[in-house]
Amino acid sequence: MAKTKNKQTQKTKAVPPLFIFALRNVTEAAARVVYDTIGRDQKDESNALAAAAMRNELAKLPISATVVVGDAHKDVLNKSSSLYNGEKIGDASRHTEFDIAVDPVEGTGYLAKGMTNAMSVIAMAPRGTLFEPGPAFYMEKFAAPKEAAGKVDPEAPVKDKLSALAKALGKPVKELTVFVLEKPRHNALVSQIHEAGARVALYPAGDVAGALMAAIPNSGIDALMGTGGIPEGVLSACAIKAMDGVFTGRLDPQLPSERLAVIDQGLDTDRWHQSGDLVRSDEVYFSATGITTGLLFSGVERNGDLERTETLVISGLSGERQILSTYHRIGE
Ligand code: FBP
Repeated sequence: MAKTKNKQTQKTKAVPPLFIFALRNVTEAAARVVYDTIGRDQKDESNALAAAAMRNELAKLPISATVVVGDAHKDVLNKSSSLYNGEKIGDASRHTEFDIAVDPVEGTGYLAKGMTNAMSVIAMAPRGTLFEPGPAFYMEKFAAPKEAAGKVDPEAPVKDKLSALAKALGKPVKELTVFVLEKPRHNALVSQIHEAGARVALYPAGDVAGALMAAIPNSGIDALMGTGGIPEGVLSACAIKAMDGVFTGRLDPQLPSERLAVIDQGLDTDRWHQSGDLVRSDEVYFSATGITTGLLFSGVERNGDLERTETLVISGLSGERQILSTYHRIGE
């Protein structure tokens, strides 16, 4: 496989733009507003609340933006309760135009059951640079730390991928841990990973966390494999590109209607899209706030009149990532 030239080695070591701090308000507002819905079987309500909070905060940013990867997909089809593809946000007279990928609640089902790992997440890049999935919902994904760049062929058999990854990371295959969503479609994949000798970390949902953990060296997760949502894939690609890690994905329709639409539009399901194809700019901004405590950060904590949030912000221009712990006064 041809090694992808990494154009990001000469990153601007600039002070992270103030913009990233404003963007963090968007995911923090969404995470805080759904706190009261955790574990109450209120999937639709939590999504609608988070989307409305995000829309409200996005309107305060000095930008004009278009949602190109929204959450009106798969099981959220009501435009008014979601941030939908094509939705215009902000002040149209602004010259700073962005594309937005967003998931107000990543892990909605998780959240409704009061489980770990739910987060609110957004990414932005200049207008026209984010991958637009059209009618496709699902993507097969591979994520790994930057040491694996250009060294693991996503089309190779699982055993070969793991052996190439182990070599790139300088450890034996038996020390690798692969994040996989616990879905019937992954039964064969899980068996193949076990046969190769690696460990599997099975999670029922939340592959943005899995992909980011895979890209962060020494996080305890060495790779993400398997099929999940495209919005989650584009969001992961934005963060991972900014961190110089590896993310690659291939359209992998799962639903009968999705398969038909993908065929109808002649979309290529064989092509592996690199992170640089999914976000075609180094100027990418990413923010994710924990709702329930998970792999990456703590969830919202309430104590007296204060709420504490943890937010991961990443700026592609500087390559810097920060986890910000913030105390908010309840009601503000
Ligand atoms: P929610 O739909 O509960 O928000 O779950 C999110 C998620 O687990 C993603 O992390 C993943 O990409 C996708 O769903 C997988 O979709 P499916 O559960 O339909 O296989």
